[in-house]
Amino acid sequence: MSTENRLELPNSLEEHWMPFTSNQDFKENPRLMVKAEGVYYTDHYGKKLIDASSGLFCSPAGHGRSEIRKAVYDQLERLDYVQPFQQGYNGSFELARKISQHTPGDLNRIFFTICGSSAVETAIKTAIAYFKAKGEGHRSHIVGRERGYHGMNIGGISVGGMIANRKTFSNILMPNVHHLRHTHLPENHFVKGQPETGADLADDLERIAGHIGAENIAACIVEPVAGSTGTLVPPKGYLQRLREICDKHGILLIFDEVITGWGRMGEPFAAQAFGVTPDMMTMAKAVTNGVVPLGAVASSEKIYDAMMDAAPKGAIEFFHGYTYSAIPCSVAAGLAMQDIIEKENLFQRAKDMSPYFLDGLFSLKDIDGIVDIRGYGMMGGIDIRMDERLGKAGYACFKSLFANGLSLKATGDCLIVAPPFICEKKHIDEIIEKLRTGITNYFKSN
Ligand SMILES: Cc1ncc(COP(=O)(O)O)c(C=O)c1O
Repeated sequence: MSTENRLELPNSLEEHWMPFTSNQDFKENPRLMVKAEGVYYTDHYGKKLIDASSGLFCSPAGHGRSEIRKAVYDQLERLDYVQPFQQGYNGSFELARKISQHTPGDLNRIFFTICGSSAVETAIKTAIAYFKAKGEGHRSHIVGRERGYHGMNIGGISVGGMIANRKTFSNILMPNVHHLRHTHLPENHFVKGQPETGADLADDLERIAGHIGAENIAACIVEPVAGSTGTLVPPKGYLQRLREICDKHGILLIFDEVITGWGRMGEPFAAQAFGVTPDMMTMAKAVTNGVVPLGAVASSEKIYDAMMDAAPKGAIEFFHGYTYSAIPCSVAAGLAMQDIIEKENLFQRAKDMSPYFLDGLFSLKDIDGIVDIRGYGMMGGIDIRMDERLGKAGYACFKSLFANGLSLKATGDCLIVAPPFICEKKHIDEIIEKLRTGITNYFKSN
């Protein structure tokens, strides 16, 4: 291998054990990206691919943003690292203030983490610590939901509900966790936006409360739109009902907005899009446009105040944090992203493009092999007919789409489409046209 392309083609593929990847298959026929600009990637064959899922729901502002690159570079020149415990620097306070300007209600206290998974663990621990601080230590149960995805740490897979992520670890999951049923009802197939039926599924929380004692439940955590499982849009009134039940019993409502946050639903957060304010909210991914890792939990002021009031003066109030919580390069990227959001009116752009995008997605309904389509804002899921085992068709279709110049995220037999917000209509057209050709061809040859 020549030295010129050493950066683009590795000498060996064996040592890197890749995450969430069929390593053996990948290493036989790798898909390596060498460049990203705007809404396109270039792979190691020099082929251009349109990015139909914003990387992994990370890059609404598109790739190669020089503003973010410059901000990170300048920051690293000035101050590269500060320990985040008992020390700090101005940027993280500024970013927390900017984030709090977009969060709903009084979710104005921002705890920085490294990623979505660490944000979820932080939210769970905050809920438990909050009730301990209030003298309600008996509230130790957490309610999640079937088909939920809350990252890959033990707390996250315990409250999550994607079976493949849980079953290997079933004997080490967190105790005292319960699950609501998921909201994907057969009668809601091919519904664009929020389904009319299914709000009553939220009453599962009431049933769980009745079963174990509402006074023992600390929190209920859901993704407002279940993302990684394939875009399950909440039925009308569902999130409102969850809020009512939480209020009735003093249970904290946590929205995991790692995907839905930062404009994907056409508003800053899904909380505003669906008109329901949780007590805590997680975020990550788009907060830096995906360029460097950063997650956060926004908590209501009552949670923060209770934790502050309970601690002796001068003591650490919350024994929790990470070495890389809000490190300078992540914060610099976050601040630059905030500027882009503001200058380019990015949330409004997502909202304006959503009907065109969803119409395009639902125009694929006639393709033999597609068994359901769902969507809201700038996110949609296409379920394709299962082959002999779950995920086989999804992966094969993903590979065939990739070969035809379209990059997206497939989970099981669902293709998840979540374009960057900077997409113009011609880009949406290209995505839809490539989906049509790719999925049709896949089913013709299988
Ligand atoms: C809703 C939700 N929560 C948590 C996570 C975990 O985020 P990360 O992969 O950054 O740890 C994800 C990742 O996709 C997610 O979609």
